[in-house]
Amino acid sequence: MKILVVGSGGREHALVWKLSQSPAVSKIWCAPGNAGTALEAENVNIAADDISRLLHFAKEQQVDLTVIGPEAPLVAGIADEFRRDGLNVFGPSAAAARLEGSKVFTKKLMKKANVPTADFQVFSRLSEAIEFIDQNNEGPLVVKADGLASGKGVFVCRNRSEARAACKSILQDRSFGDAGRQVVIEECLEGQEASILAIVDGDTIVPLDAAQDHKRAFDGDRGPNTGGMGAYCPAPIVTERVMDEIIKRILIPTVHTMKVEGCPFSGILYAGIMLTNSGPRVLEYNVRFGDPEAQPVLMRLKSDLAQVLSLAATGRLAELEGLDWDPRPSVCVVMASEGYPGNYEKGRIISGLNASENLPDVKVFHAGTTEKNGEVVNAGGRVLGVTALGDTVAAAKATAYATISQISWEGSWYRKDISDKCVPVSDDSDD
Ligand code: AMP
Ligand code: GLY
Repeated sequence: MKILVVGSGGREHALVWKLSQSPAVSKIWCAPGNAGTALEAENVNIAADDISRLLHFAKEQQVDLTVIGPEAPLVAGIADEFRRDGLNVFGPSAAAARLEGSKVFTKKLMKKANVPTADFQVFSRLSEAIEFIDQNNEGPLVVKADGLASGKGVFVCRNRSEARAACKSILQDRSFGDAGRQVVIEECLEGQEASILAIVDGDTIVPLDAAQDHKRAFDGDRGPNTGGMGAYCPAPIVTERVMDEIIKRILIPTVHTMKVEGCPFSGILYAGIMLTNSGPRVLEYNVRFGDPEAQPVLMRLKSDLAQVLSLAATGRLAELEGLDWDPRPSVCVVMASEGYPGNYEKGRIISGLNASENLPDVKVFHAGTTEKNGEVVNAGGRVLGVTALGDTVAAAKATAYATISQISWEGSWYRKDISDKCVPVSDDSDD
């Protein structure tokens, strides 16, 4: 089987690494990839959003399966174009990718499907949004730009004044361009967050073990939001009972309603969940693997990923006899560039990457890296995802940080507390 992985982050390196373990896979390309994917696949210099060149390449090389990492090409319709030409692709159609591409679409779909989520209103006129905010009680509100905004379009506002400013920035100043033609204003939920990823083929849903991300830049969940500074899997806060509830009340009605609406979902359905006192509620949907969640999740997956994704891409997921997991937990710590999530310098040489090469149970996934004059240098904000397995979460964490202590470049930094919020929970105690 010949596979093309589209994207260049830590998620894509984890996908390439896992897919390369499949005995059925003879060749993997990654477009455009990074310095890590270059070690396990052949990088192809085509941007992840250059759909016509990707399609041309896949046809020319007779690629058997294309796996799309990031959301932007999916929202732009890459899966539709590949399927139109008879190619197998793992990822949703543009119509189904609206689950990530439009918050207004998603909120309305969840309402129709009776999926628990924050109460909301949609506005396209600033005056009406402000009138609504002014009628609200003084207290937290969440304001979201409708469209894709690279994770920056969500404002958790402490009071009415912040909510008004967020609406003004989105609707009037058009800080996110056309992604801000509409806003969703919603109730602020409280609780712990979890990432639930499920493989879906339009009908059948195969949930993966739950993970927990760390979105804030600094220890103790402080500082600005990032793409994610680390994650671990499984997340014990998602007990078997909570997972059952998520499947019954969230995943099944969502997948069913998408089918009824004429846009069946296939690919990764990633539900960002808030575990509130009144049960799990959806914060957002994404339509691709989470990054960094993919790294600790795939580190634990023992099943043949190429086979699983092929079945999903061809609507035959029902043939799958469950997934096989390493029972040990995994922890992924992201190493970032100085200045991230703001501006940062690129091109700094990364040292110590070889030290971990032959260690069992550790994998250094590359994200924002590239090769320059024979050296690996930083080329993005999130640079590496150092991921380890251990008999306990504490052991996995210790191994990840021991590996990190050998790797550095000028200005490299990372959170020190990834996985600390992982506490044992039993189904009895949350009764
Ligand atoms: P989203 O892109 O919709 O997941 O939002 C990004 C982050 O904003 C989430 O991971 C939450 O931390 C926060 N958030 C989004 N919606 C809400 C909400 N209704 N209540 C509280 N926090 C929220
Ligand atoms: N880690 C969050 C995301 O992938 O959206």
